[in-house]
Amino acid sequence: MARLRVAVNGFGTIGKRVADAVARQSDLELVGVAKTRPGYEARRAVARGYPLYVAGSGSPEKFAAAGLPVAGRLADLLGKVDVVVDATPEDVGRENRALYEAANVRAVYQGGEEADVAEASFNALGNYDAGRGKRSLRVVSCNTTGIARAAAVLLRWGVERWDVTLVRRAADPAETKRGPINGIVPTLEMPSHHGPDVRTIFPDLPIATTAVVVPTTLMHVHVNHVRLARPPATAADVVATLRSTPRFVVFAPGEGVEGTPQVMEVARDRAGEGGRRSADMMENVLWERGIRLDGRDLYFFQAIHQESIVVPENVDAIRAMFDLAPSKDASIAATDRSLGIAHG
Ligand SMILES: NC(=O)c1ccc[n+]([C@@H]2O[C@H](COP(=O)([O-])OP(=O)(O)OC[C@H]3O[C@@H](n4cnc5c(N)ncnc54)[C@H](OP(=O)(O)O)[C@@H]3O)[C@@H](O)[C@H]2O)c1
Repeated sequence: MARLRVAVNGFGTIGKRVADAVARQSDLELVGVAKTRPGYEARRAVARGYPLYVAGSGSPEKFAAAGLPVAGRLADLLGKVDVVVDATPEDVGRENRALYEAANVRAVYQGGEEADVAEASFNALGNYDAGRGKRSLRVVSCNTTGIARAAAVLLRWGVERWDVTLVRRAADPAETKRGPINGIVPTLEMPSHHGPDVRTIFPDLPIATTAVVVPTTLMHVHVNHVRLARPPATAADVVATLRSTPRFVVFAPGEGVEGTPQVMEVARDRAGEGGRRSADMMENVLWERGIRLDGRDLYFFQAIHQESIVVPENVDAIRAMFDLAPSKDASIAATDRSLGIAHG
C-alpha cells in the first residue's frame, strides 16, 4: 500500500522530533523538512538523510555556503506531499495557512497557534474521532495535551470540578534567551489559557487552571485537585486504571524518582529502547504515592515533558485526518509501538 506523503515545516524542538517519529511509521513517508536557516538542526536533517527545503525568507545560497544541499523551496516540497505538519514558531503557522491551502495540502498545526487556525483541535485519547476526515487539525499544546489525556481517564468517574495549578518550565533547554533565572512569576491572567484550551477538546469539562513560571527547563508539573462524581473505591483503582492506559507512566514508591530530574534521567537511560529518542518522555508522568483519594476528592501530580509529549499526537492526527487506522486504539498502539512509548 502506498504510504501517505508527509512534510514537516519548521525543524526545531517539535518539528525535528515529529519528523523522526513520522520516519518510523510504516504507513507514512517523510518526504522532506523545511526551515529558514542553515543552523545545527538543518545539519542534523541532512545527516539523517531527510531532504531539506528552504522555507519563508530563507536563502538557498546561505545553505549552499554552509555546505548543506537543499532539494528546493517549501513550495516544491508542498507539491510532493499529502499533508504538512507545521511546527514553525507561534503564529507563523497561521501565516503559512494560505500556502498550504493553495497547494491543496492538508495541515497539522501546533498548540502555539490559536484554535481557529484549524477545523478542530486534537488529542488522540481525548477526541481522535473528531479528527477523522478533517483537512486541518491543531495538536493542542504540551500542557493541554497532558490535561486532555488525564481528562480522558478521569471522565469515566465523572468530573464535577477540577482545579489545576501548572508549575511551568521557564524555557526549553536550548532557549538561552528566556527566563526567569531566579524568580517565580505568577501568570496573572486567571484562568490561565490552558483551561479554555482543554475545552477545545472537552467542551463541557468544569476545569479551572492557574499557572506560575519557575526557573527550570526540564518539565512542567501540574498540581491537581478533582472532585469526582462517582469515584472508584480506592486510590489503587486510579493507579491501576492509569497503568492500563496508553501514554501514562506511574512511578512506584521505592523507585527513587523524586521529581523531574530523576524522570528525565529515566528518559535518558531509556534512549534507543524500542525507538525512544534520547532524553524524551512522551508519557504523562505520575507518582503512585502522589495520588490520593479522599472521598470524592482526587489529588495527583503529573509531570509533562514539553519537548516531546505532543510528538505521538501529531502522528495520530495524521492518521485520523486520512482515516488510516480502523480505530483510535489501533492508531495509538501503532504509534506507541514504533516510538517505544510505555503503556502504564
Ligand atoms: N517547545 C515546546 O515546549 C512546545 C511544546 C508544545 C507545542 N509547541 C508548539 O510547537 C510550535 C513550534 O515550537 P518549537 O518549540 O518547536 O519552536 P522552535 O524550537 O523555535 O522551532 C521552530 C522551527 O521553525 C523554524 N522556522 C522559523 N521560522 C520559520 C518559517 N517561517 N518557516 C519554516 N520554518 C521556520 C526554525 O528554524 P529557522 O529559524 O532556522 O527557520 C525552527 O527550526 C509552536 O507552535 C509551539 O507553541 C512547543
